[in-house]
Amino acid sequence: MKKILIIGATSAIAEATAQRYAREGARLYLMARNGERLASLAADLKIRGASAVDFVLLDVNDRGKHKPVLEHAEKTLGFIDIVLIAHGTLGNQKACEQDAETALLEFETNAVSTLALLTRLATMFEKQHAGTIAVISSVAGDRGRPSNYVYGTAKAAITAFCEGLQARLFKSGVHVLIIKPGLVATPMTNGLTMPAMLVAEPEKIACDIVRAIEKKTDTLYTPWFWKYIMAVIVHLPSFVFKKVNL
Ligand SMILES: NC(=O)c1ccc[n+]([C@@H]2O[C@H](COP(=O)([O-])OP(=O)(O)OC[C@H]3O[C@@H](n4cnc5c(N)ncnc54)[C@H](OP(=O)(O)O)[C@@H]3O)[C@@H](O)[C@H]2O)c1
Repeated sequence: MKKILIIGATSAIAEATAQRYAREGARLYLMARNGERLASLAADLKIRGASAVDFVLLDVNDRGKHKPVLEHAEKTLGFIDIVLIAHGTLGNQKACEQDAETALLEFETNAVSTLALLTRLATMFEKQHAGTIAVISSVAGDRGRPSNYVYGTAKAAITAFCEGLQARLFKSGVHVLIIKPGLVATPMTNGLTMPAMLVAEPEKIACDIVRAIEKKTDTLYTPWFWKYIMAVIVHLPSFVFKKVNL
């Protein structure tokens, strides 16, 4: 039976992933900031087959709580097979351009909180000598684009941090998975105009995440075609890149 910790558990992608593990009878420990949604998610996952579901409230920006909640999760689960970090916000880029504090809050939620959590988790997993740390970054981190470069900067920080962790923790038998979804139909992208053929459902992303954890993949582009879309975007010469609206 797998023991799984999910941070940002009420995210649509995290929920779809948790449902897959629940069907396998996994033991789950959920962290999120909305108590009502957390309780109803936990009840739903039990019905779907999870052997047990514990949960605790966590606003990831409350860094003082990281240590006690992670220690409690470790004590409750014993050994943690998988941790999935899934929280995030897609802030208003225009608002971030007008106000440094707004931009920094986005960076705090999307990057600083994650790096703080990962620092503690890396030490915990290093002691275990096994397990998977799976972190949802984004294709947005591959190149800063005018439409979302504040969010993209945070995701780039997560990706670089996790690349370092991959090389550090490999020596201890710990797998670190960097997840880079493209466009996904979730509350985060609700209201955005997106090309329908490029938008995936959270269930598709969850399916890819579970397989990548199984196969010990280093970096997952999901759906797969984003690897090629981003390769084109990353290699656009800057004199072209500056003229196109991405
Ligand atoms: N959707 C996409 O197109 C897409 C693409 C690439 C990457 N991603 C990444 O995928 C991950 C999951 O996002 P999603 O698409 O599933 O969107 P989502 O359903 O809107 O999930 C975002 C989650 O983050 C949580 N969250 C935000 N701020 C938090 C805080 N301070 N403390 C605790 N939890 C907080 C939200 O909790 P509340 O519900 O309580 O606000 C929500 O559960 C994110 O890291 C996102 O950046 C998404």
